[in-house]
Amino acid sequence: MEKQMKLMNQLVADLAVNFVKFHNLHWNVVGERFKEVHEYAEELYDMINEQYDEVAERMKMLGSFPAAQLKTYLELSNVEEIEDRDYQIPEVFKILKEELEKLRDLGTEIRTLADDSGDFATVAMLEDMIIAYDKEIWFMEQALK
Ligand SMILES: [Fe+2]
Repeated sequence: MEKQMKLMNQLVADLAVNFVKFHNLHWNVVGERFKEVHEYAEELYDMINEQYDEVAERMKMLGSFPAAQLKTYLELSNVEEIEDRDYQIPEVFKILKEELEKLRDLGTEIRTLADDSGDFATVAMLEDMIIAYDKEIWFMEQALK
């Protein structure tokens, strides 16, 4: 359970940093299809925001303290922040896709640990998250073709 809590905390931190990172792309995307991609990035940070809360609350239910400070998120997270500048649309999709793939990988690792310990509620939560990531990753792969 200790390793699972450590990784769940990492997931909380990665979701928190990505919430900001996706706003960066939401604000700074440029190009002919600005509005569409701007709104799409918003859908994704809304999704991430819900997952952030859900994973943290699951940690509470399991008797643990999720990280709840921005400075801790930056220490724990592997997500690299990006500078404030214009981002062309393919670049936006590439960054979003890479981050969602990393979240999916971490979620999958935690899911396996939770499954080993019979923690099926965490398994179910993560499976829903992974299904959602898969769909968005597919969307971005199609957009990048
Ligand atoms: Fe906005």
